This record gives sequence, structure tokens and C-alpha cells, in this order.
Amino acid sequence: MQFTEQDFIITSPIKKISVPAEINISAPSNIALVKYWGKHGLQLPMNPSVSFTLNKSRTHTIVRLTALDKTGENLRFKFFLNEKYQPDFEPKIAGFFKRIKIYAPFINAYHWEIYSHNTFPHSSGIASSASGFAALAKIIIELEKQLYTQQTAEYYNKKVSFLARLGSGSAARSTAHPVMIWGQHPQIDNTSDLYAIVPDFELHPVFKNFRDSIVLVEKEQKKVSSTAGHNLMHNHPFKNIRKKQAFDHTLQMSEYLKTGDLKKFIKLTEAEALELHALMMTSNPNYILMQPDTLKIIHLIREIRNRTDLPVCFTLDAGANVHILYPGNISTELETRLFKKINFEIIHDFV
Ligand code: PMV
Repeated sequence: MQFTEQDFIITSPIKKISVPAEINISAPSNIALVKYWGKHGLQLPMNPSVSFTLNKSRTHTIVRLTALDKTGENLRFKFFLNEKYQPDFEPKIAGFFKRIKIYAPFINAYHWEIYSHNTFPHSSGIASSASGFAALAKIIIELEKQLYTQQTAEYYNKKVSFLARLGSGSAARSTAHPVMIWGQHPQIDNTSDLYAIVPDFELHPVFKNFRDSIVLVEKEQKKVSSTAGHNLMHNHPFKNIRKKQAFDHTLQMSEYLKTGDLKKFIKLTEAEALELHALMMTSNPNYILMQPDTLKIIHLIREIRNRTDLPVCFTLDAGANVHILYPGNISTELETRLFKKINFEIIHDFV
């Protein structure tokens, strides 16, 4: 079933006013296979995207709520990361709360103390915004469940993704396992720009024990933010070609995930990663996020694949780190042939 923005505005009467004093939840990170790049309106994607949800790289969030005597215009909260008060993060979170207020008006009735920690190292270059906003969205839906008449599981799942999207686009895809598709596609049922869905096909067994080993080539903050990168797509000379490619790739990727065609999966996954970076290198102004070591690792992966026929490939996020994707049954072989030759910290995650 398709939901509209209107469907997420609460119309049922409040059931009770007491809520748990503390809510504790975690949400996973995700890695896009077909990339979301370019947005319009309120975090609406220029094209559909497909991702694997990761299991190990997560954000754990505890929220302590105190009921207020008077509901204010803006949400009152404090944000702590790894036990440390972090006012620098608060403007982005405040913006998120402001955007979602119409869909969750009850949030302003409480003072929020938000304690988050990531299972991956803080300065690892792994984006925590996807898992972070997905965790906050889950907490808000937990509260909605307590306060109002029960809705269907489908409504809650889609609303979590809808709210997460309003924090950070890719967070929409951090709300369920193991694959999510975000963005309306005319040939894929139930897809929407408003939220991500778990596609209704069965993931082929070859992807069921899939791994993502993340090579931390660069641990610092990205030099160009994703927001700036998305904005550069508005006047990008290849905007229309990219849009068409992404729609085609989303359909093809869905097919490969269903049929388990690893050769085609590998070819498409790498093409998408390089296309994302090619878009950055051809925007105005242009920029390069890959580092010499990113390319060295890419060449190493390709060289090993050509020599051994092992089904291993790479993808890239908006940064220099390399995500190495492969089926779990070749992990021992890759340890000696590949990982041992890489002189960077590697986080081994799985789908
Ligand atoms: O969610 P954002 O605004 O940080 O954008 C993320 C974009 C990519 O990570 C580069 C691609 C994607 O689909 O996740």
C-alpha cells in the first residue's frame, strides 16, 4: 500500500499521556548499491536507490523524557554523543525535530535528553547520520505507539522511514533489513519518494551471508558535505543521463538481487560507485573525494578478481573509504589474498 504525507499526520485521539521515562533503541547503517545523488524539495530524491542494511555498524540511542507543564513552540533537548554533551550537533537535530513536528506533534510535550553512541569509531569516516536519524525516528514511533490508537505494522514501518528521511535522505534506508529501495520507480511496486521499502522479492541465498569490509582510508570529516554534493546536481551537465541510468540500474539491481547473478551484480555495483564519483568530478565546482590509496585498493580488488575469479567487488560512499563486498564463504581466502595487503584499519560488517 502507498502512503501519502497526509496519512502520516495523526488524526486519532490521544490514548494516554504517560510515556516511558526512558526509551532505548538502535538502528543500523546502510551501504547504497545504487546511489541516491541529487535531491529536491524536502529531502526528496532525484532518483531511486537500493541498499544493503549493515548489521554491525549501528547507532544506539537512549532518550530520557521529562513531561513539560507547557508545550513549547520548539522541542527542548540536549544531545550527548559517547557520554559527552555535544551542542555542535544540536542545530541539525533541531532542524529535524522542526520538520517532523507536524507528523509527531506530541514530541514537544517533553524535554528530551538524547544519549547516542555508535558501534563504529567516532572519527572513522563512516556516516553516522543514517543510523543516527533512523534511531531517533524509531524512538518517535515508539512514543506514537504508546500515545495513540494502534495502527498497522505497515504504517509504522513506513512512517519510521518517512521520518528518518527528513533527518538525512539515506537514513530512510536504515530502518529495515536486509535490502531497501527508496524512491518511486514506475516498474517496482509500492516504491515511494517519501520512504524506503523492503522489496517484495526474496533475496537470493548468495546474498544472505554477504559481507561489507570497510577500509578506513580517511578518518576525517568529508571535505565537501553530501548536502553540497546533492545541490550541485541541480545544474549538473549530466543530470538527465544520470537520472535515467539510476532508474535503469535500480531495476537491474533488483533483478540481480533476486536471481543471484553475482557477475552482473559486481559489474553494476562498481559502475554505480564510479559514476557517483564521476558526477562529483564533473560538477561545477568539481571536487575529488578519492585518495591515491582508494585507487590502489580498487586496482588490488580488480587484480585479485581477474586472477582468481573470486566474486569480490567494491563500492564507495561520498568519501575515500572503500567498501569491499563479497559472499561470506570466501572471507578466509580474502584474508590472505587481500586484507593482509591493506595497511589501513578495516571494519568487517555483514548484511
Ligand atoms: O543521506 P545523505 O544526504 O548523507 O546522502 C548520502 C548519499 C550517498 O551516501 C553518497 C549515497 C547513498 O545513496 O547513500
